[in-house]
Amino acid sequence: METLISPSLLAADFTKLGSELDSIRNADWAHMDVMDGHFVPNLAIGDPADAAIVAASPVPVDAHLMIENPERWAPKYAEMGCASVTFHAEAASEPVRLARELRAMGARAGLAVKPGTDIDSYIEIFDEFDMILIMTVEPGFGGQAFMADMMPKVRRTREAIENAGLDVWVQVDGGVSRSTITLAAEAGANNFVAGSSVFRADDAYAEVEALRSLATTHCHC
Ligand code: DX5
Ligand code: ZN
Repeated sequence: METLISPSLLAADFTKLGSELDSIRNADWAHMDVMDGHFVPNLAIGDPADAAIVAASPVPVDAHLMIENPERWAPKYAEMGCASVTFHAEAASEPVRLARELRAMGARAGLAVKPGTDIDSYIEIFDEFDMILIMTVEPGFGGQAFMADMMPKVRRTREAIENAGLDVWVQVDGGVSRSTITLAAEAGANNFVAGSSVFRADDAYAEVEALRSLATTHCHC
């Protein structure tokens, strides 16, 4: 299984997004957080700027929708050209229908769960998704501490995927750095979102390389 690093643009300098995107040209994806001030207590930039980011990004864009009513917005992000569109299980009324719609539009479909959400009730619909995102912080803000107590959930998710013989990626998001990425990789994650650790580093390009190398070494696959 591939090991992917997806730097979160939330930690980038928004006044110079072009050069920030260029600094992570060696990443596998660019993670774009979308927030509505309802599902999470924070706002992010919206539709027109997000479309400009997708157009300018040197790597495929991974949209993480932390919003109510993803049925209304997720298809727009697929239409914009995002390679992957992840919405929250807690917010979706018909997750399977939405995943099918995204996949039919050519995007990968991701299902995210907050730290307090049990993954077990979603295992039976894993086959409708390309990726499961296990949040390792409460969604809404960058720069928070990694919740190592989410590792059993990552492990359980990976096991369920393997038991069902599926090819589904497991992503972690929140507090991922050189000191935490190995825990997540060992638990079964193969796709790592990292905001502050990449964009606050002196050299974002080198940080992406360092994170990928640590994750690959500790990958449980
Ligand atoms: C949090 C966002 C994350 C965040 C990660 O709600 O979903 O993508 O930007 O940032 P760090 O890596 O700084 O925790
Ligand atoms: Zn995110």
